[in-house]
Parts: sequence; C-alpha cells; structure tokens
Amino acid sequence: MKSLLALVLASLITPFLSASAADLQNGKTLFAQRCAMCHGELGAGDGPLAATMPPDQKPRNLAAGGNKFATDDAKLAELLQKGGAGVGLSVLMPPQPDLKPNQIADLIAFVNSLKK
Ligand code: HEC
Repeated sequence: MKSLLALVLASLITPFLSASAADLQNGKTLFAQRCAMCHGELGAGDGPLAATMPPDQKPRNLAAGGNKFATDDAKLAELLQKGGAGVGLSVLMPPQPDLKPNQIADLIAFVNSLKK
C-alpha cells in the first residue's frame, strides 16, 4: 500500500520536475535566434555582426570563458535582462527583457554547455 502511494505520488510529481528542468534544445534555438548573429552559432564570438564592432567591444567568446560580469548563472540572468549597459558592460550587448524565466534558464544551460 505504501509503495503504491509512493508510485502515485512520483507519477504526479515527475511531470513538474521535468517541466522545470532547463531545456537545452530550446536554449539552442533561442541562442540561434537572439545571440548567434553576434556571438556565433557556437558562441565563439564570430557572428556576422562581430566584424562591425570596435576591437574593445567584441562579442565575448562564450566557449573560452573570461566573462567580466556574468561569472555565475545569477549574474548571467541579470546580464540577459538588463543588457551590457545595465551591468557596466558595452551597450552593444543588448537587453532581452521579453525573455521568460524558463527561457532564461534554457539559454543559461546552453551557454554553459558551450564552455570547453
Ligand atoms: C548585437 C550583438 C550581441 C547580441 C545579439 C548578443 N550579445 Fe552578448 N555580447 C555582445 C558584446 C559586444 C559583448 C561584450 C561586452 C563588453 O565586453 O563590454 C557581449 C558579452 C556577452 C557576455 C559576456 C558578459 C561578461 O560578463 O563579460 C555574455 C555571457 C553574453 N554576451 C551572452 C549573450 C547571450 C546569451 C545573448 C543572446 C540572448 C547575447 N549575448 C546577445 C554582443 C551581443
């Protein structure tokens, strides 16, 4: 009886757990739509728009690390919401205020997966 109860509880809870876990594939799609034009498809800092930016304000190579502000997930989320200008970085890093919390989590998971 106890184990049946546990089974029922587990099947009720599992969908919520998997729904809240970051979706790497969705993060990849969002990155392609919103970040790759500057940071490049794989985050190497070599998107088509990178060439138009001054040498001291190039999109970060996200695979190499070396972030100035976004040194952990919480700060990366803050950077995405406020943009570079909001956290003391270049205005060329745009804010993405329309992102929902789960989309930010998905993007962070993808950005973290780019690191070597
Ligand atoms: C219009 C070009 C552009 C777009 C689009 C863009 N970025 Fe950036 N990003 C930059 C530039 C330029 C910098 C470097 C800012 C600086 O060094 O002051 C940067 C820096 C960063 C950094 C490093 C911040 C740090 O602490 O040093 C991260 C992480 C980052 N971007 C993630 C993203 C993500 C994720 C997206 C998509 C949601 C995105 N960027 C979209 C241009 C862009």
